[in-house]
Amino acid sequence: MVLLSADIGVDLGTASIKVLVRGKGIVLREPSVVAIQTDSGKVVAIGEAARQMLGRTPGGIAAVRPMREGVIDDFDLALHMLKHYIHRVGGRGMLVRPRVVICVPSGVTSVERRAVVEAVTQAGARHTYLIEEPLAAALGAGIDIWPPSGSMVIDIGGGTTDVAVLSLGGIVASASIRVGGDRCDEALIRHIRREHNLLIGERTAEELKMGVATAYPGGRDLKTEVRGRDLVAGLPRTVVMTSEECRLALEEPLQAIAVAVRGVMEATPPELAADIVDKGVILTGGGSLLHGMDRFTSDATGVPVLVAEDPISCVVLGTGKALESMELLRVLAGSGRAQDAG
Ligand SMILES: Nc1ncnc2c1ncn2[C@@H]1O[C@H](COP(=O)(O)OP(=O)(O)OP(=O)(O)O)[C@@H](O)[C@H]1O
Ligand SMILES: [Mg+2]
Repeated sequence: MVLLSADIGVDLGTASIKVLVRGKGIVLREPSVVAIQTDSGKVVAIGEAARQMLGRTPGGIAAVRPMREGVIDDFDLALHMLKHYIHRVGGRGMLVRPRVVICVPSGVTSVERRAVVEAVTQAGARHTYLIEEPLAAALGAGIDIWPPSGSMVIDIGGGTTDVAVLSLGGIVASASIRVGGDRCDEALIRHIRREHNLLIGERTAEELKMGVATAYPGGRDLKTEVRGRDLVAGLPRTVVMTSEECRLALEEPLQAIAVAVRGVMEATPPELAADIVDKGVILTGGGSLLHGMDRFTSDATGVPVLVAEDPISCVVLGTGKALESMELLRVLAGSGRAQDAG
């Protein structure tokens, strides 16, 4: 009898965790949220059930996001979440512990890397391989990263935006900024508080961003009523928000992304820059679904921009590509960095 262990790819994102099993494809995508009892620390809900509680918890329960800005913020809760999902996809028995490929943003510190490896190991992995997110995102977007030709990917997640130029299977120039979809939500909350004296919740802000906002002037012409609590009277009130007002509110995080992209362009050797102009820039990550993000980025760089198919899944699909070949995995994880937990 041959005992095959599951090979698992994980994208432990700030907004959501995505898990893939080799041979099966993506098996789950759940919000990175854990609800706990505040006195005992006992976990009461994980994933979508916990997300429903964000901003709606009674006293005694808190809905917490264990990841912040692309890295582990609350180690114990991140570990709890990883264990929960790895066990779920590994099956109850898990006779042989799985090999796990997991991504980290390109800008993380060695301490932050170690925290990820430690959490995955404690969650039951036999071997843990860390791959830099831009490489996984590019692979998952279907970019051929091996030829001596430059490609640029911009992964706009919930917590971070990773910008990278790739050639010959490696990162030639990159930047990672701790600005992504969350900062956009916060910018909307701040704007509505300042301009309309209205306090709105995180989830309301995210819905406004997805449903009405745009990154591109004149790109969208919608409006909606947003509900919140009046800061003066303390009572519920609504305000009408238009696409254009949202765009103005989003200017700061969007400009931060544009500046990061231009910085990487400037650090790119001219031959590779010419390749990028030919091929265009690929956007991945949920943030690339913001309306008008492609045109905004194209204007900021002067280069054609394409949004990947299923951008939210690119990174985890990339871990799946890496799992298909041990050789590929070694190269991507970098022999010095591949972490052997067994
Ligand atoms: N249609 C949409 N319009 C605008 N933003 C969207 C849309 N769909 C998803 N998002 C945003 O995408 C972000 C989540 O994307 P993604 O799942 O790629 O992030 P993540 O991988 O969890 O985070 P990170 O890579 O930063 O750790 C959230 O901020 C979410 O609000
Ligand atoms: Mg991500």
